[in-house]
Amino acid sequence: MAGVARGWNHNVQYHRLVLDAVPARARTALDAGTGDGLLAADLRDRVEHVTAIDVDAGVLDRARPSRSDVDWVAGDVMTHALPAAPFDVVASIATVHHLPDLGTALRRLGELTAPGGVLVVIGCARSAGPADFAMDVVGAVQHRVYSRTRGWWEHTAPVRLDFPHTYAQVRAIAATALPGVRWRRLPLFRYALTWSAPA
Ligand SMILES: C[S@@+](CC[C@H](N)C(=O)[O-])C[C@H]1O[C@@H](n2cnc3c(N)ncnc32)[C@H](O)[C@@H]1O
Repeated sequence: MAGVARGWNHNVQYHRLVLDAVPARARTALDAGTGDGLLAADLRDRVEHVTAIDVDAGVLDRARPSRSDVDWVAGDVMTHALPAAPFDVVASIATVHHLPDLGTALRRLGELTAPGGVLVVIGCARSAGPADFAMDVVGAVQHRVYSRTRGWWEHTAPVRLDFPHTYAQVRAIAATALPGVRWRRLPLFRYALTWSAPA
């Protein structure tokens, strides 16, 4: 992939989790809050039509030259008029905590997911309680090992480090917004939500 440097970070680590959820028959995908566009590029290697949206014009300008076969869109995923037909895959990494209301954001991403399609959200939240802190210790060890062996790469997308919700709060909000959603706490300071849209 030309344009954007390829390396490892906590978001790249979970691309495989997203790609493994892509249904075999998927033809369209959306990367919401694409940043430097690395997930969009990985999705494009699996799916024929990929749309990548980000509200920050600067990071999108850096992502765009990397792939001419991705539809790069500058806009707010909550309000932008995206293609009328929903997407077979909707993915979003480290982005939903940027959005004003988590439940509304998850419902919006769910609405953008085609019947029978899959939504995967990898997100960030605050630790609260022993189980979270134990997972953070595992994450700290993984971070030290992987950043040395895989080569840490700092992405250039805007970040927000004040996470509005704890992991438990995110889990509860997601269960209401996306009935049947599958929850996983991930070591590298992330969680995963996987939701299959009813066929
Ligand atoms: C921490 S970065 C993550 C970028 C990328 N997903 C990754 O894995 O590196 C969060 C991204 O969400 C984008 N973002 C924030 N609010 C957004 C919105 N309302 N619509 C689209 N993108 C948004 C930011 O501009 C930023 O690029």
